[in-house]
Amino acid sequence: MTQQTDQFKKVISHAKEYGFVFPSSEIYDGLSAVYDYAQNGAALKNNIREYWWKAMVQLNENIVGIDSAIFMHPTTWKASGHVDAFNDPLIDNKTSKKRYRADVLIEDYVAKIEAKIEKEIQKASKRFGSSFDETQFRETNPRVLANQEKVEAILKRLGQSLEKEDLTDVKALIEELEISCPESGSREWTDVKQFNLMFGTKLGASADTAMDLYLRPETAQGIFVNFLNVQKTGRMKLPFGIAQTGKAFRNEIVARQFIFRMREFEQMEMQFFIPPGTQEAWYNQWKENRMKWHFALGMGEEKYRFHDHEKLAHYADAASDIEFRFPFGFKELEGIHSRTDFDLSSHEKFTGKKLQYFDPERNENYVPYVVETSIGLDRMFLAVFSNALTEETLEGGATRTLLKFPFALAPNKAAVLPLVKKDGLPELARTIVEDLKWNFQVVYDEKDAVGRRYRRQDALGTPYCITVDHQSLEDQTVTLRERDSMKQERIPIADLKATIQDQVSIASLLRKL
Ligand code: GAP
Repeated sequence: MTQQTDQFKKVISHAKEYGFVFPSSEIYDGLSAVYDYAQNGAALKNNIREYWWKAMVQLNENIVGIDSAIFMHPTTWKASGHVDAFNDPLIDNKTSKKRYRADVLIEDYVAKIEAKIEKEIQKASKRFGSSFDETQFRETNPRVLANQEKVEAILKRLGQSLEKEDLTDVKALIEELEISCPESGSREWTDVKQFNLMFGTKLGASADTAMDLYLRPETAQGIFVNFLNVQKTGRMKLPFGIAQTGKAFRNEIVARQFIFRMREFEQMEMQFFIPPGTQEAWYNQWKENRMKWHFALGMGEEKYRFHDHEKLAHYADAASDIEFRFPFGFKELEGIHSRTDFDLSSHEKFTGKKLQYFDPERNENYVPYVVETSIGLDRMFLAVFSNALTEETLEGGATRTLLKFPFALAPNKAAVLPLVKKDGLPELARTIVEDLKWNFQVVYDEKDAVGRRYRRQDALGTPYCITVDHQSLEDQTVTLRERDSMKQERIPIADLKATIQDQVSIASLLRKL
């Protein structure tokens, strides 16, 4: 088993064991690629969502938030291009009868070459120690250069063939690279065919009158169809943005890698409406803003990179992904897309209604252009969770497993632990919980020896443990233990709120933006 798959297995089992993510309907043996967020997972997810929402809506006077319905008029999806162009290129293996996304097979092949490059770099870094210069190594090592060239050539060809919808060439590429079926090892492939990703459903009771609907494959269209409503009722002036978070559904053929690619997932999207001609500047600005939002979490700047698209979606004139280093390699976490006036113009055509803005400075009406930022909440959850899971060897050789969440995202901010279950310590501990619970999520835990309780809280990612002992009864002080350093300090109970609040609030993250 490679180190990567080993780490990923640990992520999945820790998520289940500690109440973060459960397979859905598990008592019925689960449903493929569908997951439920458990007590701690829901809290972590809410905190990520809150960080995103506040960074968008609270910090920007010109961005407002909405919550549109999942069901939309079916013509919406004709106008948006999803009925005709929201397809995946699929290929079947004749031996195993398994179906794959052709582009994913090729991307996985590329990921293996990238893993070789990373391995080469790690080896060299170990060999040269502190004098190692990664950039220089990447630019000069012949093996790294050759592999990098290979990666670029494959991705370029894939991008071009998808762009031209040349599915014969996608198949030819799979054959030339000698990609075999991960299940059977066979290289007997069918032709590549397109497959629409939207889930259909029906609205209405009787079969004759029921209306065919789709579950929305992106939240963005709920924003576009409300553009004029929001602009008028909010008296918004360009440039301005509309943000929303909510469920989206895609009938992904290859739903896998835990919560990375699911059929039901949540998006956090923001459409920024701008005057035509300003899209390049705003696109670059939003790329920068979004990367800053990620960096503020302190998860390591080297774990992110931009990947500019060769193949553009039907609505875009520029697009870039923010990729994150997941346990299975660098993969898309967020997309920033310059969507032109495609969506609003198309809704104008299909509805016959004007979706325009009168610009008092230009003294003209026009259909605004849009730059969109779109991030999957579940994918962000996986990035935060997998990055946080750490195993440490302590002095004396014992190990501890901890979730090093950014403090503000941790499900619980503090655990209050009476040293023993008697002598009035639980009562004092309860009064501390009662006092702190108005400001942040706090838990009470009195079961087991205090060392074991510390380990339990470490494994849940709780930033602080507050231990109440006999001295606390005398001088109203407690021990405050910090998760990562395990440092303990004695502080007055009266100072707890201010000391912890400052470190764990979403505001502490927002201030870094
Ligand atoms: N409105 C633009 C849009 O939907 P996208 O690149 O298809 O663009 C945006 O999706 C983000 O949504 C992705 O970067 C990813 O984080 C998330 N996402 C897309 N499909 C997903 C899936 N099947 N499961 C989980 N997250 C997904």
